Amino acid sequence: MLIARTLDELRQHLSVYKQPAFVPTMGNLHDGHLDLLRTAKPLGDITVASIFVNRLQFLPHEDFGSYPRTFDSDCDKLKSVGCDLLFAPDETQLYPQAQTFKVQPDPALADILEGQFRPGFFTGVCTVVMKLFHCVFAHSGGVAVFGQKDYQQLMVIKQMVKQFALPVQITSVATSRAPDGLALSSRNGYLSAEERAEAVQLSRALQALAQAARSGLARGEFDVAQAEQAALAGLRDRGWAPDYLTLRHQSDLSPVMVLSHAPMVVLGAAKLGKTRLIDNLELAFGAAPH
Ligand code: PAF
Repeated sequence: MLIARTLDELRQHLSVYKQPAFVPTMGNLHDGHLDLLRTAKPLGDITVASIFVNRLQFLPHEDFGSYPRTFDSDCDKLKSVGCDLLFAPDETQLYPQAQTFKVQPDPALADILEGQFRPGFFTGVCTVVMKLFHCVFAHSGGVAVFGQKDYQQLMVIKQMVKQFALPVQITSVATSRAPDGLALSSRNGYLSAEERAEAVQLSRALQALAQAARSGLARGEFDVAQAEQAALAGLRDRGWAPDYLTLRHQSDLSPVMVLSHAPMVVLGAAKLGKTRLIDNLELAFGAAPH
């Protein structure tokens, strides 16, 4: 596996390829990232990963400083799944001067849910992803692979690619989970043993909300707000501090007011101790009965 530390090195390595398959990451890689790499591998003529902890997507009180930097073990993992090229720039490469030009995503999509609780998060994500795409796809179009665990991020990036007509095809990969159902995340490493045992309750709360919606649809009556409040209260009772647990339309993440057969997704974010976890679950009801 080649390692490019600078934009020039990256562009030089990539100049002979026609279709890079790219997985951007912030490092501290786990099996979920490796699934993205495995998916990317057959989609391009070179498999590229990046590791860059992007300051722009962290609020001042968040964990930018303590975000785990595990470069050597990340490299071993990338090699094990056949990654050909790793782009691992330092900040002077990606942000040689204060990044005052930024990519501003559509507030209707980016200022809700994660964007409401982490203002500016998606501006930071879009800005770095746009920059990474310009570097990786400088000579060609290609494919970029993202996880469905960051459901809203995936939607925002798809919209950015579409609206800026970027020559990049976005492929998504289902969330990788631990055997108990906890969504894999770099931040799971912050959990104490006791918290780790409890952490699966976030996905259980989402499953319960999804199940309540399914039964409500079958009965023909369902109070969405009441079900969401019950789900929030359930997590609070267990000692969590939830930001949201909510039923949304898959098309635009708008709130579900009245239950229908339109594709929906349940999304949640909650803090357990000092660790903030997110997860989601798509609901497909099939065609409406005639
Ligand atoms: O999902 C992530 O790890 C980050 O948000 C990304 C896409 C690498 C941008 O920094």
